[in-house]
Amino acid sequence: MIKAITGTKDILPSDVTKWHHLEGLVRKVFNNYNYVEIRTPVFEQTSLFARGIGEETDIVSKEMYTMIDRGGTSITLKPEMTAGVVRAFIEHSLGEKTSLNKLYYISPMFRQERPQAGRLRQFHQFGAEALGSSSPFLDAEMIEMAYLILKHLGLKDLIVKINSLGTPESREVYKNELRKFLSDKKDKLTDDSQNRLEKNILRILDSKAEQDQEVLLNAPSLFDYLDQSSINDFNAVKNYLNSINIPYEEDTKLVRGLDYYTKTTFEIISNKVGSQSSLCGGGRYDLLVEELGGKPTPGVGFAAGMERILLACENENSLNLPERQIDVFIVRLEKELQYKVAELASELRRNELIVDYDYLDRSVKAQMREANRLNSRFVLFIGGEEFNRGEIVLKNLSDGTQENLKLNDLNEIIKRVK
Ligand code: HAM
Repeated sequence: MIKAITGTKDILPSDVTKWHHLEGLVRKVFNNYNYVEIRTPVFEQTSLFARGIGEETDIVSKEMYTMIDRGGTSITLKPEMTAGVVRAFIEHSLGEKTSLNKLYYISPMFRQERPQAGRLRQFHQFGAEALGSSSPFLDAEMIEMAYLILKHLGLKDLIVKINSLGTPESREVYKNELRKFLSDKKDKLTDDSQNRLEKNILRILDSKAEQDQEVLLNAPSLFDYLDQSSINDFNAVKNYLNSINIPYEEDTKLVRGLDYYTKTTFEIISNKVGSQSSLCGGGRYDLLVEELGGKPTPGVGFAAGMERILLACENENSLNLPERQIDVFIVRLEKELQYKVAELASELRRNELIVDYDYLDRSVKAQMREANRLNSRFVLFIGGEEFNRGEIVLKNLSDGTQENLKLNDLNEIIKRVK
């Protein structure tokens, strides 16, 4: 038997209600903050991600689904959206049409990571990108939208972590200091961190290994090397978060796994999802548009993992969604009336009622069982003497009451059910 590929997951009808709920909420919140949707292709030229996210990052160096297509082009399934959104922004000159573009997305992403709870190879993100302003209010707005969505889902144990990575210049100075500090402690670091010393030294800071964290105890802090404009913007972000009552923790080790960040970075963590605790992450990327060939344009954004969020909801039992109901199940007493049933169903459906009936030649008793299984609010019985009199029987399944209605008075039937 052919099975789904490791790290991919079917979303079955029994789960889809949760997805609809989450997607609806995401669209509502983004719409309230005046973000509009953008959809980009599932695959892009590999060089977009290599240049955008950074050659030395784990995503680009280890996790991308890359292939050469039949035309000889190297293409990659998108591991994240920011690079694709920026590519589309440049390609369609969106910055010339509107000075500030507030964009959002909901889309599948692909990373060949080791699958575990909350970590998949095809997963889904929702996220937002604001291109065209360096206002720290937008940084805070990103955190606010992400936090609100998670709160609306009933999640409780959330920790918002924020940091500033400063400008590339201030970061370079810090990297040198960190390199000096670690130079005689190399042997005490894990192999992974030793590898990062040369290529991606900042990532050592957010290593989860205790061994690394011990070495880092007295390491210089990135914060002490920030330039004044980064400090000012970081303070503005914090002040705004304070004023709208969003609690946060400062974490000077939050460097994130993508190279494009400048200034603010943030993550929202839940303790309820095991080791894959980061529900969302983001930050400012003021140089990315230019690096990808566009005019200098500041940007900020975030993305959240939807499987992880739904896992947190499940573990906290925070979603109490109503079971799916249908409005009417039509039960026919005599098989010859199947045409009449189909015709009536069609008319009711065109009047925006959720209607179903039996397609399996079942007995009346089995049809009733099906009506109950489908959680139908009403049953319409067609047949018998009532039918000969031009009537049908409408039964309300929640209180058991029933009444006879004229078969040809569609409006009356609809009025009773709506
Ligand atoms: P990221 O931190 O790589 O950032 O991913 C964002 C979120 O996607 C993570 O916090 C996590 O919830 C989810 N995620 C990542 N990998 C997986 C996986 N293998 N399985 C399940 N969920 C996963 C970005 O992607 C940036 N583009 C965010 C951003 C937007 N920064 C600025 N704008």
